[in-house]
Amino acid sequence: MNISTINFDSFQKLKDEDCQERIIKAKKKLGKDLLILGHHYQNEAVYRHADFAGDSLKLAQHVQNVEAKYIVFLGVHFMAEVSDILSRDNQITILPDLSAGCSMADMANLAKVERTYREISKVLDFDEKITPVTYINSAADLKAFCGEHQGIVCTSTNAPKILNWAFKQKEKALFFPDQNLGRWTGYKMGIPLDKMPVWDPDLPLGGLTEKQIIESKILLWKGHCAVHQMFRVESIEDFKKNYPNGNVISHPEAPFDVCKNSDLVGSTEFILRTIENADPGTEWLVGTELNLVNRLAKEMKAEGKLVKFMSHVICECSTMARIDPQHLAWTLESLIEENPVNIIKVPQKEADLARLTLDKMLEVS
Ligand code: 13P
Ligand code: SF4
Repeated sequence: MNISTINFDSFQKLKDEDCQERIIKAKKKLGKDLLILGHHYQNEAVYRHADFAGDSLKLAQHVQNVEAKYIVFLGVHFMAEVSDILSRDNQITILPDLSAGCSMADMANLAKVERTYREISKVLDFDEKITPVTYINSAADLKAFCGEHQGIVCTSTNAPKILNWAFKQKEKALFFPDQNLGRWTGYKMGIPLDKMPVWDPDLPLGGLTEKQIIESKILLWKGHCAVHQMFRVESIEDFKKNYPNGNVISHPEAPFDVCKNSDLVGSTEFILRTIENADPGTEWLVGTELNLVNRLAKEMKAEGKLVKFMSHVICECSTMARIDPQHLAWTLESLIEENPVNIIKVPQKEADLARLTLDKMLEVS
């Protein structure tokens, strides 16, 4: 990380409104040198400054066409790593707050994945039988692991296509770190639940018997999103009682029974487009992060559509929320000083291997 001549402390004390003015001024000054990318879960206070917004796949596809010298990423760490890997060498990706991680991505790390590789290899030839598939919500070194073992990356949008591809290569898949996305995708492909056992990386042989491993089709890493884990079937039942013609739409990171009881399941972009294109007068219960649902509810109200959040408790992605106007103003003003802070740079060897799997993913998508 660079040492900035501008100290963040002075920004921390600024009011949101003051930051908004400074961000607008800085964006004007930086002009074509800057492009701000934003994920749909970002808070309105920063999301409004994004030049382009999308789900993980759309953002990964878009970053390859960006001409700007600086890419400021309103999202979490793994997204900024993908931006660094897929952008050109002379472009710089910046994450306004380096502590904006993803708790699900943190549920898998290289040491555990390598131990899993060794454990599975006691039972069968991993490289002959298994395609490792990592959800894009993972650190770059796990994507590099997949690059080394003929594996691939997927997002919530393309998971069915990617798993299809994986099974064309080898008979089984190891899917990490989100068991819910892996299970839902496998289930929709017709794979029985007992052929998708959960692999606990902290237990010998993942807590499974040799027979379970040999008979499995997908080994599901024991990981999940703490935000989406909060959604419950009871909320769907309550909604259906009150709105018998209402529709339920969820993100595939939600628990299996929530997805099963939803009318539609898909990525954040899919959720947004589906509701935006729905008829006036329709009613929606949405099982994904709060910022997205609140924004959508407000926008759709004007079109006569009702959008309700699936949980009674607040399900906000607290790490996404770390990107606030104070950090955005700080990083932009540091760029004006030509002294960028919070640069995300994936080590070259790791980036090259991770790029292999990301390119493969983009090709298969
Ligand atoms: P999307 O790719 O659907 O936007 O999902 C990213 C994510 O982190 C959801 O929790
Ligand atoms: Fe990660 Fe969950 Fe936040 Fe998505 S919502 S970034 S999976 S912690």
